[in-house]
Amino acid sequence: MNILILGSGGREHSLAWAIKQNPKCDNIYVAPGNAGIAEIARCISIDILNPEKVLQTVKKYSIDFVIIGPEAPLAAGVGDYLRKERILTFGPSKASAQLETSKKFTKEICDACGAPTANYAAFDSLESATAYIKTQGAPLVVKADGLAAGKGVIVATDIEMALSAVDEIFDGSFGDAGASVVIEEFMEGEEASLFVLVDGETVLPIGTAQDHKRVGEGDTGLNTGGMGAYSPAPILSEAVLNKTMDRIIRPTVREMVNRGMPFTGVLYAGLMIKDSNPRLVEYNVRFGDPECQVLMMRLGGQILDALLSTAKGELIDVKLNWADDHAITVVMASDGYPGSYTNGSQINGLADLPSNSNFMCFHAGTAKEDGNIISNGGRVLNITARSETLFEAQKNAYEIIEIIDWPEGFYRKDIGWRAL
Ligand code: AMP
Ligand code: GLY
Repeated sequence: MNILILGSGGREHSLAWAIKQNPKCDNIYVAPGNAGIAEIARCISIDILNPEKVLQTVKKYSIDFVIIGPEAPLAAGVGDYLRKERILTFGPSKASAQLETSKKFTKEICDACGAPTANYAAFDSLESATAYIKTQGAPLVVKADGLAAGKGVIVATDIEMALSAVDEIFDGSFGDAGASVVIEEFMEGEEASLFVLVDGETVLPIGTAQDHKRVGEGDTGLNTGGMGAYSPAPILSEAVLNKTMDRIIRPTVREMVNRGMPFTGVLYAGLMIKDSNPRLVEYNVRFGDPECQVLMMRLGGQILDALLSTAKGELIDVKLNWADDHAITVVMASDGYPGSYTNGSQINGLADLPSNSNFMCFHAGTAKEDGNIISNGGRVLNITARSETLFEAQKNAYEIIEIIDWPEGFYRKDIGWRAL
């Protein structure tokens, strides 16, 4: 079959890499893709937020199955548009994508189905939010309601910080995302993520992971999109996983059906775990980046069958084969990230890297210029390794990263420290 993946990051490179291992895959296209993806797939330069352009591409290349990587095309209704045209598509409807695109919506779902999460209040005006904050103690978590490119959450350590956060949100700094605000209780505990496929009714867990959001070693410094990740997450033991499924995931999936907006796609639950009890921090309605890279490293080609069955509503028939393995990914980023950085520096040594079922260098922000690979984004490469132990996988990833010659890049030296 012919497969089209929408997106251009390490997530989409890893999806293409895993899917290509499945004999069902004849041709793979990625829009818009990047320089690494171009080595294993055909890249198509189109605006993936424009449903009509995506449909034209589907027709032109006789695509049988579309996989939507990032949240923006989901929020733009690209999935709905393709399904209306009877194109088999992986990714939720715009309505059910509200689990990511509206924090208020997710809180209401949790209330309705009894899923444990932080206590909260939601406000549509600066005056009411300010008055509420003044009745609360710190710390408090202030969240812009909508999609804010990962910048819409402020963990306020004192009341002044919370007040200036709501000021900023309502003064338009977050665009439409800041039309309303959710103010939450600060939850203590350890964070981990659970990924499940959902075909409307059936739920299939496909792995757990932990990421490193902060830019600096020891989880210090500014927040980023993620500087590395590993799977599985030891804190999500079988017992905690079962509680998460029973108390959070299945009730959410049922509630979405009750509301006439069944969820189909991958549901990514960010969890806070304390004393073996999980609470929901947030949902995303797509694979995490870089969490996807470690999941794909562990799942390989069987992910295609699982994604197809999800899109067809046949997830009940799917059984995944699990190896008792561990995967880790280390992000190489441009100097300056997550602040300002310059694109266009040359990356050498990539041709000398091994590439096999236990190691892959996934590209995130790269481009090709005069035959050379150059940086083209904040997060640039994802050095991903798999082994029988996390320790071994980590060792391999850090040994191989030394081969890469890119003076303008940096990476954290301690990915996986919490689990090790
Ligand atoms: P979110 O985008 O909702 O995942 O928030 C980003 C990060 O903020 C999370 O990964 C947590 O580290 C932190 N966070 C969000 N909500 C809370 C909360 N209620 N309590 C503690 N930390 C939180
Ligand atoms: N790594 C976090 C995310 O994809 O949202």
